[in-house]
Amino acid sequence: MQLLLMGAPGAGKGTQAAKLVKKFSIPQISTGDMFRAAVKEGTELGKAAKACMDAGKLVPDEITIGIVRERLAKDDCKNGFILDGFPRTVEQADALNKILDELGKKITCVLNINVPAEYLIERAVGRRLCRKCGATYHVKFHPPKGDTCDECGGELYQRADDNEATMKNRLGAYEASTRPLIDYYKNAGVYTEIDGRQPIDKVTEDLVSVLTSVQD
Ligand code: AP5
Ligand code: MG
Ligand code: ZN
Repeated sequence: MQLLLMGAPGAGKGTQAAKLVKKFSIPQISTGDMFRAAVKEGTELGKAAKACMDAGKLVPDEITIGIVRERLAKDDCKNGFILDGFPRTVEQADALNKILDELGKKITCVLNINVPAEYLIERAVGRRLCRKCGATYHVKFHPPKGDTCDECGGELYQRADDNEATMKNRLGAYEASTRPLIDYYKNAGVYTEIDGRQPIDKVTEDLVSVLTSVQD
């Protein structure tokens, strides 16, 4: 299964991808996570990505397409993958078609977690992440039991771009560059929309029900 998980910043892509990884045993490929790992390691890629991410702008297409091309060629993607947050521009979507052609694969399904803009700043600003295992929480909608991660006891932190000012720019980038992909994938006949305003587990249920039907 080659899945694309789409949605505005804070819509719930990462939260849902983690659940789908467990259910379908295919890897999650999040370009945002890959860039954050590179920033932490201080690599050239990290240096190039950091300024864009801090400003809430998209990282240039040629950089982003390059890391996805490398990642999709790895062995663990043989039986499928969940792309989280890629593609985000028409140029990236065209490049993905080419990469998949070369690998002899097709997009199984594009799932768009649809959440109206007025929900998104609260979701991002209240998000907390575990430094050790990456688990995602929300101070109001999915609070941890204590001050540390429920799963592994790791320290919880806030992402550098999860503030109101940067979120406004991220939402602007989404509207300008990523929203056009909805029609792009509708035209390709692989698009499905899920109501992302629902509670986390209900969103998962809807996603799984779509995926079970495309798998048959
Ligand atoms: P990226 O890391 O992909 O960030 P994003 O798209 O802004 O999305 P988020 O990770 O913020 O949100 P999410 O949808 O994963 O939500 P989550 O599940 O965590 O990208 C970061 C940056 O990297 C970009 O700005 C750009 O600079 C760069 N980049 C990445 N990919 C790129 C690309 N392809 N091209 C160019 N540049 C790229 O949930 C959010 C919060 O809400 C959590 O606290 C969660 O607990 C809560 N929540 C989730 N679901 C629900 C629900 N149903 N109800 C209530 N709360 C919920
Ligand atoms: Mg995410
Ligand atoms: Zn943890």
